[in-house]
Amino acid sequence: MTTLTEADAIAGLRDALGLLKDREQVAERLLESSARHSFDPDKELDWDAPYEEGKWFWPPELVSLYDTPLWKRMSEEQRILLSQHEATALASLGIWFEIILMQLMVRHIYDKAATSAHVRYALTEIEDECRHSKMFARLIARGDAPWYPVSRLHQHLGRLFKTVSTTPGSFAATLLGEEVLDWMQRLTFPDERVQPLVRGVTRIHVIEEARHVRYAREELRRQMVTAPKWSQEFTRISSGEFARVFSVAFVNPEVYTNVGLDKREAVAQVKASPHRREVMQQGAKRLTDFLDDIGVLRGVGRRLWKSSGLLA
Ligand SMILES: [Fe+2]
Ligand SMILES: [Fe+2]
Repeated sequence: MTTLTEADAIAGLRDALGLLKDREQVAERLLESSARHSFDPDKELDWDAPYEEGKWFWPPELVSLYDTPLWKRMSEEQRILLSQHEATALASLGIWFEIILMQLMVRHIYDKAATSAHVRYALTEIEDECRHSKMFARLIARGDAPWYPVSRLHQHLGRLFKTVSTTPGSFAATLLGEEVLDWMQRLTFPDERVQPLVRGVTRIHVIEEARHVRYAREELRRQMVTAPKWSQEFTRISSGEFARVFSVAFVNPEVYTNVGLDKREAVAQVKASPHRREVMQQGAKRLTDFLDDIGVLRGVGRRLWKSSGLLA
């Protein structure tokens, strides 16, 4: 009687599912797309145009306090100011994510042949993220709202994570960082109520980010079949924990103080807001459906995802 080795089982599963795409083929396609659609934000966007009176910096429905009792008491001017601070806080968060991601990518390719399309694409993605971080930094510097760093605890957790994370853990975290913000940015760039510069920044980011999401999804799908069992389980738990950090760090509470609101009251109202819960769950839905499909949302990991508020 022959015993089925693990490799046979994986190959069989792969064929049965017909899902795992060839790593090199995926990367070649992404390299072609990068060659066709990449932008230099310094040249592409009009950084000197003054901001337009009465325009939002983030769609109001995506501002954390939207539809809360506090929101109803705020003037239109204060709401717009809050949208500017939240957009700036999200740009700051975006830079934090991207810098973590760049290190994860560098670690991912360290042992791989640099001649492969998979590694060449990873290097291309790091180039994209360098441009994005510079673009977000320029957007922050362009307005009146400050740079919003994450808390010291999250800063240290990020340092630990980017140093020790496994490959599937890294790609799960990458998707979390990219997909929720991407969902919001897809609503932002076509919105005529929003400042043209913010629309331009989010448009560039959405176009280039679509490739990153594809790359991370294909790799994570492969990893959740081929990685050792302990590593798959670690991914379930670490991604659930990352989801909890993400949902707390998402909007820096200092934004409320800086627009003249009571921070504690504002945080409590955001937490209790059914509209906000709906926005965050809808923003994460494409991702959580995918993670569920590839077996990340199970057991303890699933419970952590639920407690993050991102999974219904
Ligand atoms: Fe990016
Ligand atoms: Fe990205």
